[in-house]
Amino acid sequence: MTVTTLRTLEEASMLYHLTGVTKRYTQGRKTIDALAGIDLQIADGEFLVIQGSTGSGKTTLLQMLGALDRPTSGSLIYEGRDVAKLGEGDLGELRSHSYGFVFQSFNLIPTLTAQENVETARVPWHVRGDERRRRAMEALAGVNLADRARHIPSELSGGEQQRVAIARALVREPKVILADEPTGNLDERTRDDIIGLLEELWRERGQTLIVVTHDTWVAGRASRRIWLEAGRLMPDETAERSAERSAAEVVLA
Ligand SMILES: Nc1ncnc2c1ncn2[C@@H]1O[C@H](COP(=O)(O)OP(=O)(O)OP(=O)(O)O)[C@@H](O)[C@H]1O
Ligand SMILES: [Mg+2]
Repeated sequence: MTVTTLRTLEEASMLYHLTGVTKRYTQGRKTIDALAGIDLQIADGEFLVIQGSTGSGKTTLLQMLGALDRPTSGSLIYEGRDVAKLGEGDLGELRSHSYGFVFQSFNLIPTLTAQENVETARVPWHVRGDERRRRAMEALAGVNLADRARHIPSELSGGEQQRVAIARALVREPKVILADEPTGNLDERTRDDIIGLLEELWRERGQTLIVVTHDTWVAGRASRRIWLEAGRLMPDETAERSAERSAAEVVLA
């Protein structure tokens, strides 16, 4: 077998295959190149961390990976389909069936209980009411929150709210979990709990976990780290140095 064939086989087993992905935002006459040509492959089952300074394009990249938006140019292949070329209907379907999102600010609906918040994720699936409740309870039990199912967000701690958000992401049984600074609003101990939980789910369910974080401890848990700078991916050695530097900053702070 030739080297070329081997490379092709390896590429075929990749969940994501990004080539020259750019994202340009236009505001009036101003243009911002949030992503300036990203080449990246992500394997099925990876725990990938995306790091980089503020404004470097991390959230933008995560949005592309979660089909929340389309690249301006380049190709973003997910399981053999080019997301850049999909219509709104297909994008919506991909979002609700394949991806689970977790955000820094939890994004729970304040007037709904934990269980109802988790249930909202199943609405587009037209699952029967009792079945939806059963699955929501199962997902809450999976994040050790069964006993808080009837609490509304303001009756839950930050860590508990994030666990509800994780249950909401999981209830769809997505293939990929995309988390943007999931521990940004939590103290250290709660951060450790939440990352521990995500890691456990990742290990048990074989999902692909993609986490944006500024936190070097969180980054250290990943199976691979990448570093963005001004919309570009840094070569591995530079990424390692940047990570070491920010770890040193944390120690000095
Ligand atoms: N909807 C938008 N319209 C215009 N510009 C945007 C939009 N979203 C992001 N940007 C710009 O694109 C660049 C990348 O933003 P992005 O949110 O991806 O950065 P980030 O790495 O996630 O930063 P942070 O660490 O602060 O969250 C920034 O310069 C930002 O101002
Ligand atoms: Mg961001």
